[in-house]
Amino acid sequence: MFNKNIIAAFEQKETPFYYYDLDLLRATLNEALKEAQVHGFHVHYALKANFNDRVLKTIQQSGIGADCVSGNEVLKAIEIGFDRNMIVFAGVGKSDKEILSALEHDIFAFNVESVQELEIIGGLAQKKNKIAKVALRINPNVDAQTHKYITTGLDENKFGIKTWELNDCLELIKKYPSLELIGLHFHVGSQIVDMNVFKSLCVKVNEFNNWFDERGYRLKVLNVGGGLGVDYTNPDGEPIVDFRRYFEIFNKFLERKGDQEVHFELGRALVSQCGSLISRVLYVKNGIKKNFLILDAGMTELMRPALYQAYHKIEHLSGSEIEMHEKELVHYDVVGPICESTDCFGKEVELPVSHRGDMIAIRTAGAYGEVMASKYNLRDEIRYVYNDEIQ
Ligand code: LLP
Repeated sequence: MFNKNIIAAFEQKETPFYYYDLDLLRATLNEALKEAQVHGFHVHYALKANFNDRVLKTIQQSGIGADCVSGNEVLKAIEIGFDRNMIVFAGVGKSDKEILSALEHDIFAFNVESVQELEIIGGLAQKKNKIAKVALRINPNVDAQTHKYITTGLDENKFGIKTWELNDCLELIKKYPSLELIGLHFHVGSQIVDMNVFKSLCVKVNEFNNWFDERGYRLKVLNVGGGLGVDYTNPDGEPIVDFRRYFEIFNKFLERKGDQEVHFELGRALVSQCGSLISRVLYVKNGIKKNFLILDAGMTELMRPALYQAYHKIEHLSGSEIEMHEKELVHYDVVGPICESTDCFGKEVELPVSHRGDMIAIRTAGAYGEVMASKYNLRDEIRYVYNDEIQ
């Protein structure tokens, strides 16, 4: 819940806007890094979760690496100041132009997603007289037990190299001296809250690590991806992410050979808590079956509820906390202004009786919020407010 001063500052602003608490982001980064360092693990940030400039700058200043999934994300990471030696480029559909650009910028590595892509990278690097460092993204067929739209490590998913293709990859690595195999990469899904999934992942990584070792490849890097889930029901919880437990699992179950490095690429766990979408009630509609709160923010600003039926806590900000407790509570379907029935942030949400102009916060929206915004219905550009502007 936001304090009175913050709410008073919000009331001076045009809505909707994303509010980012960069101090909270710093605290989350410190916590993640502290727990990772206990085991000597390396953390990269998955830019796709949020590439707002100030958020990115704060993350870059923490000294962690960058996981990018497009040529533009690679360029953005460089522009913000991430160390090129800590930038990896992943994604199933890298274009020749994107590969060439990444080669020119001498990034740390490509996470390669298919045999064909490996051959293309090998050829382009050879032409440019470059060595492309590559990690093979293997699809380990581990069920992430999460929403099917954000599951990536099953045989039916488009991601990664199938296990029966690994010999073909080794043939290409021998054929192209321009390819240097530095590691293996895995990522089985997002918003994973069942820690057993990560145990199963470790077992698979160990098998593949052995497979390569037996064939004479002692790999420098084991990249186990991201996916660590957060508690969306408790936006002010400390912590909403249990980094300690997460890293301990990998420390316990992952078998490192010699001085092999373990890399993580976290997105949501690092940035979700620091962001909220702040909106105003435009209209209150009392129907026979339903009461609706119509907000000035919609699925165009935060798509997750419409796309994945994702839960975000909705809070009514107007009025003091004491007043709020005394207010009558009503159930509302909290919806946006967009001409789609899926434009709904929550059904039957219990809130105080609300009026036009009341402020509403949609919490835990720092990850996959702003970045997935769209212009549908020719909406305004996204606005932002940062905590250091209003405190
Ligand atoms: N590494 C790779 C290869 C990925 O594909 C992803 C996310 C990550 C790392 C970071 O995962 P995280 O730690 O954030 O779970 N838009 C969806 C989430 C899509 C995740 C895509 N890949 C959502 O709003 O839930």
